[in-house]
Amino acid sequence: MAPEVLTRTWTFLTAMASSTLRSQGQAGDGREKELLQHVLAVAEKNPQSVLKAIDQYAQRSWLMNIGEDKGLILDQTLSDRKPKSVLEIGAYVGYSAVRISSQLDQPGAKVISLEMSAENASITRQVVAHAGLSDKVDVVEGILKDKLEDVTRLLHELDCKTFDFVFLDHDKEFYLSDFLILKEHGLVGKGTVLFADNMKIPGSPIYREYVMKTHVDDFDTVEHKTRFEYLRWLPDSVVISTCK
Ligand SMILES: C[S@@+](CC[C@H](N)C(=O)[O-])C[C@H]1O[C@@H](n2cnc3c(N)ncnc32)[C@H](O)[C@@H]1O
Repeated sequence: MAPEVLTRTWTFLTAMASSTLRSQGQAGDGREKELLQHVLAVAEKNPQSVLKAIDQYAQRSWLMNIGEDKGLILDQTLSDRKPKSVLEIGAYVGYSAVRISSQLDQPGAKVISLEMSAENASITRQVVAHAGLSDKVDVVEGILKDKLEDVTRLLHELDCKTFDFVFLDHDKEFYLSDFLILKEHGLVGKGTVLFADNMKIPGSPIYREYVMKTHVDDFDTVEHKTRFEYLRWLPDSVVISTCK
């Protein structure tokens, strides 16, 4: 294995073993702050350059972004749906917020990006600002059940009743419960696209069961088998469901 692949694999394993990854959304060794410094130092102030700088950093220090391979599936899904209102749950360092918001071409379209970690929310705001996209991304710090009022207000400010696109990329245990909160409060509806990342690693069995088995008639669902972020030898998948 090339030294860079070894370092990347090692930093993936240390992140997975870290006690802070699940509780605080960070790998525990300061890589997220270092990534921010890297972006500010090397990236030009545009989305493509910012995404390139993050992907470049993740080649040596693994980051839990959607990454390049699954990012292409995300791009295609956005291009098909052309959303005006996007809810992202799980911002991390802002990679997907930049990737999604840079592709929104509907007038007034926005990403509302929900992130439980204050540090990650702050990094995301700075990364998004460096990409020149602050007017297209509202970062909300917290978790859905506590931030429903903010999320609903921001959605209504876009003149939308339901989200056109929901990107689920947070704690996999919350994919289903957060979808059910959105459903209960009428924030998703016919035509809403649910894009669920990491459906193989680590996977979300109860969400999968819901959209692909117990409530299969409520959705048009496709699963794309693909590669895990920055570690192409590991398989992963994304599940894309359109609410009927
Ligand atoms: C896989 S990362 C997100 C990666 C990002 N979407 C990207 O592709 O660039 C998961 C993020 O979700 C956050 N998170 C975990 N549970 C959450 C929850 N219940 N609500 C909001 N954010 C959460 C973590 O702090 C972490 O930053």
